[in-house]
Amino acid sequence: MVDARRLQRPPAESRFADELRRLREADGEERPPGWQLSLDACRRFVIGDPGAGITRKFVGDPSLIDRALVTLATSRGLMLIGDPGTAKSMLSELLAAAISGESTLTIQGGAATTEDQIKYTWNYALLVAEGPTTRSLVPAPMLRGMAEGNVVRFEEITRCPLEVQDCLLSLLSDRVLAIPELHGEEGMVFARDGFNVIATANTRDRGVNEMSAALKRRFNFETVFPIADFATELELVETEATALLERSGVKLAPRREVLEVLVTTFRELRSGFTEHGESLERMSSVMSTAEAVSVAHAVGLRGWFLRHEEGSPADIVECLSGTAAKDSADDLTRLRRYLEQNVPRKKGRQWKALHEARHRLPG
Ligand SMILES: Nc1ncnc2c1ncn2[C@@H]1O[C@H](COP(=O)(O)OP(=O)(O)OP(=O)(O)O)[C@@H](O)[C@H]1O
Ligand SMILES: [Mg+2]
Repeated sequence: MVDARRLQRPPAESRFADELRRLREADGEERPPGWQLSLDACRRFVIGDPGAGITRKFVGDPSLIDRALVTLATSRGLMLIGDPGTAKSMLSELLAAAISGESTLTIQGGAATTEDQIKYTWNYALLVAEGPTTRSLVPAPMLRGMAEGNVVRFEEITRCPLEVQDCLLSLLSDRVLAIPELHGEEGMVFARDGFNVIATANTRDRGVNEMSAALKRRFNFETVFPIADFATELELVETEATALLERSGVKLAPRREVLEVLVTTFRELRSGFTEHGESLERMSSVMSTAEAVSVAHAVGLRGWFLRHEEGSPADIVECLSGTAAKDSADDLTRLRRYLEQNVPRKKGRQWKALHEARHRLPG
């Protein structure tokens, strides 16, 4: 087996194998058929239970998790929608790991996704040698999930061509996948208990509006919102960035005051309001928590590997230009205006340093 410590990002069931084992052992509650854990244990796995040594992974409304779990225990799929970087993929991975102990049955949706990447394909050498048999069949995630009774993740489902989305219709309502090339019983794969689908869709890209009404009807929709509270977002960014920096071999993480400046900047540029209620121009690029975590990581890396010290506000400015100027050149102008006009009104050494580093923006 591969050594999980050497992987950049092992799947949730490996990263949290110990937590999942403990939850399973202590789980005295009823479980839906085919599930590895009860709903209560799944919820605690996702939102944490400090008393039992279970870490908090997803930050958000616990009732969202309850609704998601209940949906997954019914015969409807779960559709997680929301802005980019709000942890939809992470949540779907955690739910799959909790329910099935396996989060890698994943289909990545895109313009080039085809039906055989969803259902099954053939090993052509065997197909020529012995014709269509169960040996020459190569199952794709949906077939495996149905046959094994596991949760299948369908990432960015709305980016798939509509006709590919349509191939899910009968799978989700009849819960059977037909393989016409095989005869008899082998040609019909019936879904086992525990099978269901978690799809994610991003509200910025090709929207959910384009999804057919027929497919929409087979899912319950849940919106994942950005983190509302400053302190919670700051804590999350700090924890995640610290863990990432440790893995990258950085010995000195940016200080809390520096992360405070970073998270405030992200929140203000995302919402179009300063913490004191003054309005400013919103960025069109996504200033998500996920982006804030990755900027905090980069800030720490710059400080350590370039100067052997902790990341500073000047590093924030350097890293922001690559995050902020993605969508349009106007964003760079908005960012410059923010640094020139809004930042000087804030008190504190770190804000002053951020203002002084404004000339580091390119252009
Ligand atoms: N509410 C949250 N709880 C925990 N982590 C969060 C939260 N919001 C954002 N994050 C951060 O975002 C990262 C996960 O982002 P993820 O890729 O799952 O987002 P996404 O919504 O799927 O984005 P996209 O639409 O671009 O695919 C996490 O690793 C974490 O650092
Ligand atoms: Mg995603």
